[in-house]
Amino acid sequence: MGKVTVIVGGQYGDEGKGSIVDFLTQKADIVARCQGGNNAGHTVVIGNKSYKFHLIPSGILHKNKLNIIGNGTVIDPEVLCNEIRQLEQEGVKITDKNLVISSNAHVIQEKHKEEDIKTGSKIGTTGRGIGPCYKDKINRTGIKIYDYLNQNSDKQNFDCIKKLKPLVKDTSFVVNKLLGAGKNLLIEGAQGSLLDIDHGTYPYVTSSNSTAGGACTGLGIGPTKINDVIGIFKAYVTRVGEGSFITELGNYNQCKNENKDEVLNKSDIAKANSGDGYTQGKMLRKQGNEYGTTTGRPRRCGWFDLVAAKYAVMLNGLSMIVLTKLDVLSNFETLNVCVAYEYNNKKLEDFPLQAEILEKCKPIYEKLPGWKEDLTQIKRYDKLPENAKKYIQYLEQKLGVPIFIVSVGPGRDQTIVME
Ligand code: GTP
Ligand code: IMP
Ligand code: MG
Repeated sequence: MGKVTVIVGGQYGDEGKGSIVDFLTQKADIVARCQGGNNAGHTVVIGNKSYKFHLIPSGILHKNKLNIIGNGTVIDPEVLCNEIRQLEQEGVKITDKNLVISSNAHVIQEKHKEEDIKTGSKIGTTGRGIGPCYKDKINRTGIKIYDYLNQNSDKQNFDCIKKLKPLVKDTSFVVNKLLGAGKNLLIEGAQGSLLDIDHGTYPYVTSSNSTAGGACTGLGIGPTKINDVIGIFKAYVTRVGEGSFITELGNYNQCKNENKDEVLNKSDIAKANSGDGYTQGKMLRKQGNEYGTTTGRPRRCGWFDLVAAKYAVMLNGLSMIVLTKLDVLSNFETLNVCVAYEYNNKKLEDFPLQAEILEKCKPIYEKLPGWKEDLTQIKRYDKLPENAKKYIQYLEQKLGVPIFIVSVGPGRDQTIVME
């Protein structure tokens, strides 16, 4: 039997799952998406080239790997066609040998996008029609992609139908047969654990299960087939859209008006190191280029939150952790890590599930020493500055799960595998 590894976001999405999936695809035969749609934006950087994927799994750039868009996803057909065209223009040929689409995936229709744009702004959705499409699926009034492609309506884009039809398969059989033949599967989660429809900060969540359980229902594989669940965490936290964010630095309204092209200068760094919260957030945003892949919105930034991270470890049963964007923490004299929340003069160590409690929580921080060195060219763990190693060891010890990869830049070759 082939091995199954699930990759999930440990925070609010954008943890860098795309680049880690691309890296881990070297050892996989199949890469699959199991939930979400083109609300996701995965960036993969190879050499000087940057690829952005919304629906197609991040394994597509590797030769001889099968990529699957599973039944749990929602598909905007035109967006998928454009993504295929874009890849073909860049020399990646798409056939049913490297990309298949589940016949059971649901279709995002025009009315879903219209509804999302009208009603989603309160939540800060991506406006891609995700919630309304899942709503119709659950209500049993949706359209599956197989039916959509075979309905011969004159409103359809025929080029697009012609492109997609040959790729549509009953993927639950495809994937289980390949596993039976010893092929390894990597499942690429989208969004993050705290955006999960059941376990996230409802209603400020996405409309699918972005925790590990979604991998089984979203592909048609049984839980006994899963060998590993890897959680991807940024070395700090970001969030796009509305919703609670206990360790946020500055606030959403301040960062909304920030100019993307403005560069960070020395006086900003000095101000951040004198303890100015908003400037610390801005420093993370600028050094981490924290602007949405899908919407271009500035991402809200804050310190690493162990309370939320431990909740994600529990929900997903994580067996391993990848820590990304460690390079972004350079130049901070002191790093804060949130170890508990304060609520009504009480100390909370478990992530509160009631929105009214969460809203009133304040972070309790422990301080760790920072580092000035640039990490982006470092290839081995033992070459990292002592304080960066301390930071990794501290998080690993607090989370109780091994950190097996640390990334220090967007490139494939900026991934440090721990010895
Ligand atoms: P969602 O599915 O939308 O949640 O996305 P994702 O988890 O795949 O992450 P996304 O690509 O949206 O955001 C991560 C960004 O950080 C991308 O622009 C990556 O190229 C970049 N990135 C990934 N790892 C690193 C890293 O270690 N350091 C730096 N500086 N950038 C990184
Ligand atoms: P929706 O998924 O478009 O309905 O958006 C719901 C919430 O999830 C909003 O706060 C979005 O900003 C957030 N969200 C959805 N997809 C992503 C993602 O891939 N990365 C980060 N946030 C996301
Ligand atoms: Mg993203």
